Amino acid sequence: MSAASAGPAEPGLPEPPPAALEIFGDRLSDAVRYAELLAETGVRRGLIGPREVPRLWERHLLNCAVLSEAVPEDVTVCDVGSGAGLPGIPLALVRPDLRITLLEPLLRRTNFLQEVVELLGLDQVTVVRGRAEEVLSTLTPVHVVTARAVAPLDRLAGWGVPLLRPYGEMLAIKGDTAAEELKNARGALGKLGVVRSSVLQVGAGLVDPPSTLVRVEVGESPGGVRFAAKRAKAARRGARRSH
Ligand SMILES: C[S@@+](CC[C@H](N)C(=O)[O-])C[C@H]1O[C@@H](n2cnc3c(N)ncnc32)[C@H](O)[C@@H]1O
Repeated sequence: MSAASAGPAEPGLPEPPPAALEIFGDRLSDAVRYAELLAETGVRRGLIGPREVPRLWERHLLNCAVLSEAVPEDVTVCDVGSGAGLPGIPLALVRPDLRITLLEPLLRRTNFLQEVVELLGLDQVTVVRGRAEEVLSTLTPVHVVTARAVAPLDRLAGWGVPLLRPYGEMLAIKGDTAAEELKNARGALGKLGVVRSSVLQVGAGLVDPPSTLVRVEVGESPGGVRFAAKRAKAARRGARRSH
């Protein structure tokens, strides 16, 4: 194909910015490998758009890794709708203390996620194929659910909150719409057993602008009464199977 018919070359992956070293520390080379995999395999398989490549660092890897500031130590995490691994993979790179499940329904994406996990030696990460609302009876409830760009907060909460353990929390990266989405979701959150919710920013001084999160915390009954009954039924089924 001639250069004229090929059109202008897509801009490539830039060098990691200085904040990347600060954020990823001794895992920077793995973060670079992940950025390369997204820019090459990820684009080729249609998992991310080629126009995202020049902004992979700021808009995707760094923006997601700073979520770490809001995640407690030594907890279990489920990244709902992980797609090509965001925010789950950057979080795993900066936080080896976390046990992370990447939950994603599409096979093309779970294949990519599995490859990344193996290539980067992320032993604490498990890839599960499925929809959040369908894995309730098989996934062990987690301390923290994370999500970015999956659904409006009210719908996302309906999927993510029932996956939580009692007193767990969901952290959704939401950007400028955070406060508005939280306002609109208040009714839905109440029915799901949410006892507290807030908007917070993470990554100040590292990413510009800082990442905006919605945090929703549950009490004793994550998902509310309806899900408590479902979970009890799943537990009874599990107990019968093990006898
Ligand atoms: C726009 S992508 C965002 C991917 C990634 N979180 C990111 O920020 O780049 C939304 C992802 O959510 C997944 N998804 C949609 N509905 C879902 C559900 N009910 N449970 C789990 N994942 C879901 C889709 O397959 C898709 O990969």
